[in-house]
Amino acid sequence: MAPLHLFFTACSVVLGAQALTVSSSAARRHAELAPRVTGCAINPTSTSVPTPCGTSDVAYDVPEKDLYDNIFCANGVDNISNPILLVPGIGAGGDTYTNGYQKLLTNLGYDVCYVSPPRYMLDDEQDNAQYVAYALNMIYSKTNAALPVLGYSGGNAAIQWALTFWPSTRTSAKQFIALAGPFQGTIIGKVYEAGQLDTTTGSIRQLTTGSKFLAALKSKGGDYNWVPTTSIYSHTDDVLQPEPGPNDPSAVSFVGGSRTGNVFIQQFCPGLPVLHSGFPFLNFSYQVTSLALSSSAKFVDPKDVPALNIPCNLDGATGLSTGDVAKVFASTVAAASRVADTVLYGRLSEPDLKSYVASYPDNAVHD
Ligand SMILES: *[C@@H]1O[C@H](CO)[C@@H](O)[C@H](O)[C@H]1NC(C)=O
Ligand SMILES: *[C@@H]1O[C@H](CO)[C@@H](O)[C@H](O)[C@H]1NC(C)=O
Repeated sequence: MAPLHLFFTACSVVLGAQALTVSSSAARRHAELAPRVTGCAINPTSTSVPTPCGTSDVAYDVPEKDLYDNIFCANGVDNISNPILLVPGIGAGGDTYTNGYQKLLTNLGYDVCYVSPPRYMLDDEQDNAQYVAYALNMIYSKTNAALPVLGYSGGNAAIQWALTFWPSTRTSAKQFIALAGPFQGTIIGKVYEAGQLDTTTGSIRQLTTGSKFLAALKSKGGDYNWVPTTSIYSHTDDVLQPEPGPNDPSAVSFVGGSRTGNVFIQQFCPGLPVLHSGFPFLNFSYQVTSLALSSSAKFVDPKDVPALNIPCNLDGATGLSTGDVAKVFASTVAAASRVADTVLYGRLSEPDLKSYVASYPDNAVHD
């Protein structure tokens, strides 16, 4: 088996240690309103690519049936009310959430939906993003109401890519909550590229510092909030580095913009050794998520975190049993082993950028 220095989902399994706002620069003021969702016809059984919902959206290249069939909702896709969309990390599927956020968010009254793009998000993030964009617009078309979207790890970059290149999703998405999002790329990926660890897959290379994917995301404005955004991250993340101090724009998980709350855990819990695998069950990340969902601003201002009185521990969220937490943790182990076994899928270099990227306007400015 490939060396188990695992990536994007569960390095901490190997390390075994945790079983368990800077606002926009003046140059980038918002100039455009998000285009509306127009004529968003949904054809669940179509084997053609769907027509994008918005006039500024890029084209899909996955057949609509595949996109549609990839959307899973707790009460069925024909019976959605008060939805939230969850997007897993690299190497993972819906199992990341089944025993964790799905339970917690159901208790908050949400109808939990998720996407689980093929090959556990290990392929091209640009394709993963198509699943996210389509799901946001499809669910919106059923309820006529904007819905929150939450991602873990590499899923967050797929969400931000969807919001960047399918502007109609900025109408469909009410807010974005990112648990350990690799928006600026992680240097840890470099370690994998450097030596014998070159079994890294397409999406991992795309989320490594210096990738074409991340440069494109940034140049099109995807390093800023398109919708109210809460980004929660940890100084001691063993997969995403660097994650320096609060409000440091060089952090992997930093998102710019006046509607972003960058929640740096150690600002509130100095020294708390939160690892990457902790985010899908830790009480801290869940309490901040819960505040983001209930806040009228639709994101968490870090100065409102102390009032939550979250104990500085590594416990699972209140509402999850010890067994639930063990199952969520097991899902990160499974994800990690899928990442480790990517040699089975063959070695992939960074996927080429889709042709739409070059022609898409640069720096679509927003706040
Ligand atoms: C629709 O979902 C609700 C829960 O929101 C459930 O009680 C009901 O049985 C579901 N109806 C159908 C037809 O599945
Ligand atoms: C989670 O945080 C809340 C405060 O936001 C606190 O009341 C609760 O006791 C905490 N749960 C655990 C398991 O630490």
